[in-house]
Amino acid sequence: MAETRDYVSHFDPEVYLKSLYESMGSYEKGDIACFLQNTLHKIFNSEIQFGEKLLDIGSGPTIQSVLSASRRITRIDLTDFTPKNLQVLRDWKDGKRNEVEKLIRYEMKLAGDSRNVSERESEVRSKVHGIYRIDATTEQVFKESIPDDPQYDVITSSLCLEDVSTTLAGYKTAVRNVSKYLKKGGYFVLLGVIEESKYRIGDYIFLGTSLKAEEIRATWREHGFKILQWISDYPEDAAESKDVDNFFGMLAKKE
Ligand SMILES: C[S@@+](CC[C@H](N)C(=O)[O-])C[C@H]1O[C@@H](n2cnc3c(N)ncnc32)[C@H](O)[C@@H]1O
Repeated sequence: MAETRDYVSHFDPEVYLKSLYESMGSYEKGDIACFLQNTLHKIFNSEIQFGEKLLDIGSGPTIQSVLSASRRITRIDLTDFTPKNLQVLRDWKDGKRNEVEKLIRYEMKLAGDSRNVSERESEVRSKVHGIYRIDATTEQVFKESIPDDPQYDVITSSLCLEDVSTTLAGYKTAVRNVSKYLKKGGYFVLLGVIEESKYRIGDYIFLGTSLKAEEIRATWREHGFKILQWISDYPEDAAESKDVDNFFGMLAKKE
C-alpha cells in the first residue's frame, strides 16, 4: 500500500465518506464518527454563548464538524485544501447531493430533533455561506478568495491539523496560521487523534504527525489559548484494536 501526503491526487472523497461516515456503527464499539458527533454535541450543547460566525478548517467532503454547531451559529464558512472535497461541498450547498443520511440522523438523535432529515439538512445548508480553498501550512491561509471579514467567533477543525505536516514544528505553524482568524475571546473546537502518524483511506496511507496529548495542549497554550474542556472518552478497547491511542475533543478560548 502506497504512503502519501499528496491530498490533491490521492484523497478520494467518495472512499473517505464511505469508510468513515456511511459505515457509522455505534459509539460503544469505538466508531470514530460517533465519537466525533458525541463530542461536538457535548461541546455545543452548553451554556456558552458562541457568537454568530464559524469557520471550519479542513472540512473534507463533509459537514460533520459543523452539524451540532449549526444549531447555535447563524453563519458558517467551510474550507479545504483538496479541490475534489471543495467540489463535493459546493455540490452539497447547491442541493446537487446530500450529506450521508446516517450522519444527519445520528446528530438529530443526539439533539432530540424529530423533524425529517431533509428539513434539517436544508436548515444547515441555509447557514453555510462561503466555501474556501485554504492551506493551513502557509501564512496566508486563504488561497483563491478571502472572506470579506475573516474574523470568526468560533473555529472548528476535525481530524485535520495533525495531518497537514509530519512534525511538531509544522503542527505549531498550522495552529498559528489558522488561529489568527479567531476573534479574541472566541472559541476553538478541535477534534483530533493522539499518537497516530498515519491513517488509511482506500489504497493509500496518509502520513501526518504523531502528537502526544501534552504536546497538543502545550501548543495551544503557547498560542494564547486557555483550554476549557478536554474530552478523551474514546472507548479504550476500541482504541487498542484500531491501533491508535485515542481520539480527543478540545474546547479552548483565545485570551
Ligand atoms: C482526515 S480529513 C478530515 C475531514 C473532515 N474534517 C472530517 O472530520 O471528516 C483531513 C482533511 O485535511 C485536509 N488537508 C490536507 N492538507 C491540508 C492543508 N495543508 N490545509 C488545510 N487542509 C488540509 C484534507 O484535504 C482533508 O480534507
